[in-house]
Amino acid sequence: MPETIENVAIRVTVNGQQHSLQVEPRTLLVEMLREQLDLTGTHVGCDTTYCGACTVLLNGAAVKSCTVLAVQADGAEITTVEGLERNGQLHPIQKAFGEAYGLQCGYCTPGIMLSALQLLTKNKKPSEKEIRKAIAGNTCRCTGYQNIFKAIQLAAQNMRGT
Ligand code: FES
Ligand code: FES
Repeated sequence: MPETIENVAIRVTVNGQQHSLQVEPRTLLVEMLREQLDLTGTHVGCDTTYCGACTVLLNGAAVKSCTVLAVQADGAEITTVEGLERNGQLHPIQKAFGEAYGLQCGYCTPGIMLSALQLLTKNKKPSEKEIRKAIAGNTCRCTGYQNIFKAIQLAAQNMRGT
């Protein structure tokens, strides 16, 4: 008889909302977000820690949520792309991606926005090199990256108010 694996109770705060959940020990953070909380803006592009489409903030740090177990997020604050908009207002990063044409198919975009948010929270005036480094773990198949850099520069400018 195979042993039954018991679910684990965890508590997480996602985009400011608290949740008490039961997860299997093997449940990935991205599965918990997409399948249990219906936050499907966090994408799965590879499942092998390569593409960065699944990037979210875990206690402020950008992580690839296909590589984090949901149980590891117990007690944590998580930000997904759905948490960027506030009171019906797009976040400056979201606006900048639209204005600077920083996306095409948009599959990579939520992850890149979260990596950009981590950067711009710590560094209000990043150089191009710093922007490139911040999104080095995010792969885009469509844009050639140039407009993504422009979008992050524009977001930085708008967030500084200059
Ligand atoms: S789905 Fe997580 S890195 Fe690709
Ligand atoms: S916009 Fe299509 S993968 Fe980046």
